[in-house]
Amino acid sequence: MTLDELRQLVRSIPDFPKPGILFRDITTLIGHGAGFSAAIDHLAAYTKEAGGQAIAGIEARGFIFGAALAARLELPFIPVRKPGKLPVPVLAIDYALEYGTDTLEVDPGAVEDGSRLVLVDDLIATGGTALAAVELLRRAGGNVVLSLFAIDLPALGGADRLRQIGVPAAALLKFED
Ligand code: PRP
Ligand code: MG
Repeated sequence: MTLDELRQLVRSIPDFPKPGILFRDITTLIGHGAGFSAAIDHLAAYTKEAGGQAIAGIEARGFIFGAALAARLELPFIPVRKPGKLPVPVLAIDYALEYGTDTLEVDPGAVEDGSRLVLVDDLIATGGTALAAVELLRRAGGNVVLSLFAIDLPALGGADRLRQIGVPAAALLKFED
């Protein structure tokens, strides 16, 4: 399946979650078996090229793509979790949202020292979430060699911010507006 065909599987919802926002919804992409599988194929090619040794996925929607990618390549999957979910002592990082802050956590025991990690999320917008995840994984001893997204909204600058901190970013689909 081509990237143009994959693009057709993303549903666009105006005025969600608030007026003026055009929400790019992956539900329809992952709901299409061949489409979801093709998306994972594309992400797998990037991961192999980068020599990724483990996949780190960001809760929640990053788990969908990240876990499927890890299983496809038979690589370890590292969950980067929302707060209070992990049953062991964690490393945590707070990051800014448009209103207020949020937190991500990781089990440092899940990250092998110096391991070449590929960070996966469904979408990058401002990059706040992905940058926090990179910092967290670095503190845990990982070497984030690539970040992968199903969707990039380049106007919001997130992928550029990742590149500025030394992490290459790639996305299957870019939506310019
Ligand atoms: C969404 C999306 C990314 C993040 C992108 O997550 O899945 O993780 O926002 O935005 P940013 O680049 O501006 O940080 P969200 O926490 O809203 O929902 P989820 O738990 O369903 O993944
Ligand atoms: Mg998310």
